[in-house]
Amino acid sequence: MCGIVGYIGSKQACPILIKGLRRLEYRGYDSAGVSMINDRGELNVFKAKGKVDDLVAFLDDKDVSGTIGIAHTRWATHGVPCRENAHPHYSSSGTLSLIHNGIIENYASLKEKLIEHGYTFVSETDTEVLVQLIEYYKITYQLDLLSAVQRALAQVIGAYAIAVLDRSNPDEIIAARKSSPLAIGLGDGEFFLASDATPLVEYTHKVIYVDDDEIAVINRHSGVNIVTLQGQSVSPEVSEVTLDLGAIEKGGYEHFMLKEIFEQPECILNSMRGRINPDGTNVHLSSVIDYGDKFINARRYVIVACGTSWHAGLIGKSLIENFCRIPVEVAYASEFRYNDPVIGEGDVVIAISQSGETADTLAAIELARSRGAFVYGIVNSVGSSIARCTHTGSYIHVGPEIGVASTKAFTGQVTVLTMLALCIAKERNTITEEQLHEALQELLRIPDKMREVLKQNDAIASLSRTFTYAHNFIYLGRGYNYPVALEGALKLKEISYIHAEGYPAAEMKHGPIALIDAEMPVVVVATNKALYEKVLSNIQEIKARQGRVIAVVVKGDDTISKLVDYVIELPETADFLYPLLASVPLQLLAYHIAVCKGKNVDQPRNLAKSVTVE
Ligand code: G6P
Repeated sequence: MCGIVGYIGSKQACPILIKGLRRLEYRGYDSAGVSMINDRGELNVFKAKGKVDDLVAFLDDKDVSGTIGIAHTRWATHGVPCRENAHPHYSSSGTLSLIHNGIIENYASLKEKLIEHGYTFVSETDTEVLVQLIEYYKITYQLDLLSAVQRALAQVIGAYAIAVLDRSNPDEIIAARKSSPLAIGLGDGEFFLASDATPLVEYTHKVIYVDDDEIAVINRHSGVNIVTLQGQSVSPEVSEVTLDLGAIEKGGYEHFMLKEIFEQPECILNSMRGRINPDGTNVHLSSVIDYGDKFINARRYVIVACGTSWHAGLIGKSLIENFCRIPVEVAYASEFRYNDPVIGEGDVVIAISQSGETADTLAAIELARSRGAFVYGIVNSVGSSIARCTHTGSYIHVGPEIGVASTKAFTGQVTVLTMLALCIAKERNTITEEQLHEALQELLRIPDKMREVLKQNDAIASLSRTFTYAHNFIYLGRGYNYPVALEGALKLKEISYIHAEGYPAAEMKHGPIALIDAEMPVVVVATNKALYEKVLSNIQEIKARQGRVIAVVVKGDDTISKLVDYVIELPETADFLYPLLASVPLQLLAYHIAVCKGKNVDQPRNLAKSVTVE
């Protein structure tokens, strides 16, 4: 989703801004722009439809000088992707330029009033309304920029992270936030602004995360001053960001997604580090230690999440119900927040989010908290909004995920959910000591087993070439593997644009079987010990209708191997741990099919990595 970058210091701003935009490319966008104030006091705005490379080409013969600037990647919400709608937007007089991430919900009524005052608009965006509104207050009431921003934001309903430049003050950037992330990097005599820490880490590790309803005045000489919308001064908390540059670069892989798929064994180890004893005899999550009573005596758990994180939540439900015998519901955060949910004291809400910024998940948390529920977060992005607004939580520690299609965050989330379930089960005595040790020791073996799976990368790449013709795919799985099927289908549609459906295997005969013919590839995750015979029957039903089956089986499974067209083998493990292994070949399958089809796997069309609007 939209990305914000800003710079003020002694260096030329434009190259830093462009590099920052590239670091934010992973968030997903369709146009980009920059604005700088040059030494002659001119405020320039340059924008292009398409990628950052298109913007760079457009800048070729332009005056991009200046040591203060702001830049933006836009993910269209109001108005099509085009140069006019791209940010930054000028105010009517050309004295202000502004970038914005989020949505101004009441933009139409604000725009009407501005038109009455004689303002004209060149774009269809809500953002242009905001910059005109700031200018309106600045001129009408003869205000300085800060006061004008305060007055304007007081009128705004919606979500925003903004940054504004004022031609008459080339020493200052003003930025503000409500429900959309914004971080300020503190350098040596220079300051950086960004939607997240990734563009900042090559310059500084000292970061201020701006909070909701706060305005930051970033001055070349006097540094950062934070005030509330009402003008009260706030002393900002400076955080140390531990992210290193290598973690946000490709490291020799062709795509971030492939790098992130291959990182998974190491990521899972990082998730478990310090939480499981090396001999697999005990598991601790500090949240469960600190808030034992809430977790152990909960009447119910409600998992809220979106997208891939929601799929991890479905696996979490099976894990918690099976090990802890506590009922668990899994809700789409977007539905939960508007469904007047029955939630309150005694309920534990588990919010799962890679980015920690998903608007719907954030709103679901706020609602749950307001009704008295206890909220635990499972988050990847350290210091993100969700990490900060839950009562407690566990980071998954898989490092920054840049590929838009989530891979290592999914397995990291499932790993934390597995530890959570085992930890609570231990405290509730719903698991014997022997079972606990067995489960933990097997979990500790998963990274090595995952490495075994990854060795089939070449074979999966060649099998993928066979399926580039397909317009549809079906994914089937049962029990713990049903969410794996959903996630496999999601991966394929996200990056290859092939329509794919995930189903619980036994549901196939209630509808999807009508789709099966010699053209239809069906991926069956068939590792369940308990339901083996039933999944075998499903495969026979597909083969009887000439469907082409790719089966994910346990090594040595001759029965299914003889029946199907292609086999991907997994090392043997416990039923509840197969999602961690089985999701890997499905990620690789989606990846290679998309690569064969020439798609942009890291930045698929229309998708955003961090969805900060509803
Ligand atoms: C977007 C991303 C998905 C992600 C979902 C939830 O749609 O493209 O990959 O699963 O948001 O994001 P979160 O950061 O909350 O896990």
